[in-house]
Amino acid sequence: MNIKIAPSLLAADFKDLQSEVRSVVAGGADMLHLDIMDGHFVPNISFGPSIVKQIRDIDNIIFDVHLMLTNPQDYFEAFIKAGADMITFHIESDANVPDALDYLEKANIKKGLVVKPKTNIDSIFKYLDRLDMVLIMSVEPGFGGQSFMQDCMSKVKVLRQKVGADFDIQVDGGVDVNTVSSAAKAGANVMVAGTSVFGQSDRGLAIEQLRQIAENNI
Ligand code: DX5
Ligand code: ZN
Repeated sequence: MNIKIAPSLLAADFKDLQSEVRSVVAGGADMLHLDIMDGHFVPNISFGPSIVKQIRDIDNIIFDVHLMLTNPQDYFEAFIKAGADMITFHIESDANVPDALDYLEKANIKKGLVVKPKTNIDSIFKYLDRLDMVLIMSVEPGFGGQSFMQDCMSKVKVLRQKVGADFDIQVDGGVDVNTVSSAAKAGANVMVAGTSVFGQSDRGLAIEQLRQIAENNI
């Protein structure tokens, strides 16, 4: 299993986005996780396609766009134009999932579904063969810096058993040097990390530590 570290820009210093993005790219990030919040699906608002488009000019690192929107389909086009490489949207949103997947397939974008902590993992099973990845939230979506919910790892285990080794399972929320081992043990291979990367002055070291601990716990 290939461990990938996806720093979440939500925890960056927005006064200095360009150097923040460069610091994690130089530090060995595998992708950049972009959290999009509409103030409706979650009780917070982050940033939209125009910011994503501006960051796109900085580097060609994979843009992993996590849409926390009530109507994600309404914004697919805008985020694709802004430079998204993969889009994940919530099974709990109002999206028509088959239509949404059709759209992303035609647009040649990688696609993923997200489950919140209280949502059963079975809810996404029928779409599995159409997905490039599944994101299992380990906090209630909406804010960075929350505590990792260990309970959610049982869903990771179930999913890993079902999909086999060659499939991306992301864990998002509260992933740090103390919790990344249990995410890896459960079978996750893509670690989203906001505070635990951007909260450290040496981004390369922060990314490397997470990667090492995860790799030692596969
Ligand atoms: C929460 C977001 C996460 C968040 C993670 O709604 O989906 O990506 O930024 O932040 P940390 O790693 O600080 O928990
Ligand atoms: Zn996220």
